[in-house]
Amino acid sequence: MTGSLFATSDLHVAYPDNRRIVDRIEPESADDWLIVAGDVGERFADIEATLRLLRSRFAQVIWAPGNHELWTHTADPVRLRGEHRYRELVRMCRDIGVLTPEDDYAVWHGPGGPVTIAPLFLLYDYTFRPPGAATKEEALRQAYATGVVCTDEMLLHPDPYPDRESWCHARVAESERRLAATDPALPTLLVNHWPLVRQPTEVLWYPEFAQWCGTVLTADWHVRFRAAAVVYGHLHIPRTTHYDGVRFEEVSLGYPREWSKRGPAPNPLRRIFGAPGQ
Ligand SMILES: [Fe+2]
Ligand SMILES: [Fe+2]
Repeated sequence: MTGSLFATSDLHVAYPDNRRIVDRIEPESADDWLIVAGDVGERFADIEATLRLLRSRFAQVIWAPGNHELWTHTADPVRLRGEHRYRELVRMCRDIGVLTPEDDYAVWHGPGGPVTIAPLFLLYDYTFRPPGAATKEEALRQAYATGVVCTDEMLLHPDPYPDRESWCHARVAESERRLAATDPALPTLLVNHWPLVRQPTEVLWYPEFAQWCGTVLTADWHVRFRAAAVVYGHLHIPRTTHYDGVRFEEVSLGYPREWSKRGPAPNPLRRIFGAPGQ
């Protein structure tokens, strides 16, 4: 089989400049797959239109939610909160043929395969705390004191869970169970909006922001679950790093004020498997 497996995230299509970049996303071949690792946008209709467009162009599209998809934004007529909103996003994806963390894991059989592709929705639990903070309460207090507070605190509701960390822990337990049941003969590609390990957050300009970026519970998943590579976004710091010999790809586009520093027309696709011209 030919083709490439591409990944992107943080398309944030509410920005017209980002929308223009997304409209130009094209596969290189009819066999190409695309992973979208969250933060497509905030409005339900925007998320659906974008995923529908990408699905019309790629042989397979696999999505995992970011925090922005899970917001109950005042500009969105869809008023669902928390788990109910997530389930509605999953239902929409199934309608348009996009795979989600709730579906059976697809296997990539193209170059670099076979690899089990596991889209994950793990959220965060405030355990990536800034120096000097021993608890979630102390971490949040530091964040409010410096004015660096993730909008999730206002818009990402955990219903029906009592708080976001409880939702995170339920997601981690369920995802761990499913990953343990994957074919042990195949490597995996782990896809999650938030980084699975803490190290990528160490370069954040504001260390207080890390508490909204993941959980220490997944620190060894790339080793335990045989990851050939890990795809994430959320940080808006696109780069490739290695931890324990495993390739981690931060694949975000980010906001116009961020990507414009890297050039006028960034390519929002990162090739994970495959080679040009295959
Ligand atoms: Fe983002
Ligand atoms: Fe995000």
